[in-house]
Amino acid sequence: MEKLYLKIAVCYFVAGVLLGMTMGIIHDFRLTSVHAHINLLGWVSMALFGLIYHFYPAAAQTKLARIHFWLHNIGLPIMMMAIGFQIWTGDAAFMPAAIIGSLLIVIGVLLFAINLFKQMPR
Ligand code: HEM
Ligand code: HEM
Repeated sequence: MEKLYLKIAVCYFVAGVLLGMTMGIIHDFRLTSVHAHINLLGWVSMALFGLIYHFYPAAAQTKLARIHFWLHNIGLPIMMMAIGFQIWTGDAAFMPAAIIGSLLIVIGVLLFAINLFKQMPR
């Protein structure tokens, strides 16, 4: 799971900096918050999950870790696309999807926290 997290993280990093560069080139900063969260929830957070599981491998073997992995990796693309389309089109119909995506991530983070507290050696 740690390698998978790091590989997914680096893909978000590529997407995040490409979006940042594009925003800079075309001087359109509407997608700043999509860019920020692709980098922070995609690259930074997932790279940290990967590194943490590298140092605490027992924590990566649990059901909680697997559920968290899927919640984060389903929630994040939903949240990013929904916020992106919402900003791009100005259509509030994308809002519920953004909320659902964010909630999946938040629930996943809670499970990640519980998992670490349970699995980390004292
Ligand atoms: C070459 C890489 C990058 C480029 C070209 C880039 C470009 C940009 C641009 C053009 C903005 C909008 C600035 C504005 O609205 O005034 C921005 C905002 C932001 N970027 Fe990047 N970025 C890059 C990498 C990153 C990385 C790696 C992270 C996080 C790990 C990051 C986090 C943020 C955040 C949090 C904001 C919002 C800042 C705010 O609200 O004031 N960026 N970036
Ligand atoms: C599910 C989790 C998260 C949700 C729902 C969320 C939500 C939000 C919202 C609603 C904003 C305001 C956006 C705007 O003004 O347009 C925001 C901004 C910001 N968030 Fe998050 N956030 C989450 C996770 C994170 C994480 C994990 C980080 C850092 C590691 C982070 C860093 C930031 C930063 C730097 C900004 C300001 C950049 C900007 O202008 O968009 N967020 N977030």
